[in-house]
Amino acid sequence: MSGNITFTMIKPGAVQNEHIGPILSMINDAGFRIVAMKYVKLRTTQAEVFYNIHKEKAFFKDLIKFITSGPVVAIILEKENAVQDYRKLIGTTDPTKAEEGTIRKLFAKSIEHNAVHGSDSNENAIIECNFFFSYSEKFAKDGNCMSV
Ligand code: CMP
Repeated sequence: MSGNITFTMIKPGAVQNEHIGPILSMINDAGFRIVAMKYVKLRTTQAEVFYNIHKEKAFFKDLIKFITSGPVVAIILEKENAVQDYRKLIGTTDPTKAEEGTIRKLFAKSIEHNAVHGSDSNENAIIECNFFFSYSEKFAKDGNCMSV
């Protein structure tokens, strides 16, 4: 299933500004299938693990503060070539450089408050899906939703 799933997170700013619906609509229109989705608030320690790859960056502290400032929507998406196609749909990290019509161009306020996260590789997609959802590969493969 590698290559067919990606992970996205609608970030606190976009959640607070009522952008969940429009963003989900764009995801849907672009042909992605939602395999799993939840509305959660990350603890600082959890956010530090999720963004561990950026721990040496100057922006790390602010990134953690922002991502834990309110609820996020964590989503597993399925589509052929999911990681690359989703990155095209969201646009580049910095919204001032993002292409017209992309999610970040439409909904991001700044590079820090950039509306959504999207996995950058198939490998990281699996890691990030499993951070929020147990056995996510199996769910994606079976086309099932999770049991509570
Ligand atoms: P995201 O795709 O969630 O991955 C890491 C995040 O760090 C990124 O989006 C940005 O929101 C945030 N960030 C803050 N400052 C910077 C920066 N200068 N360069 C890249 N990412 C940044």
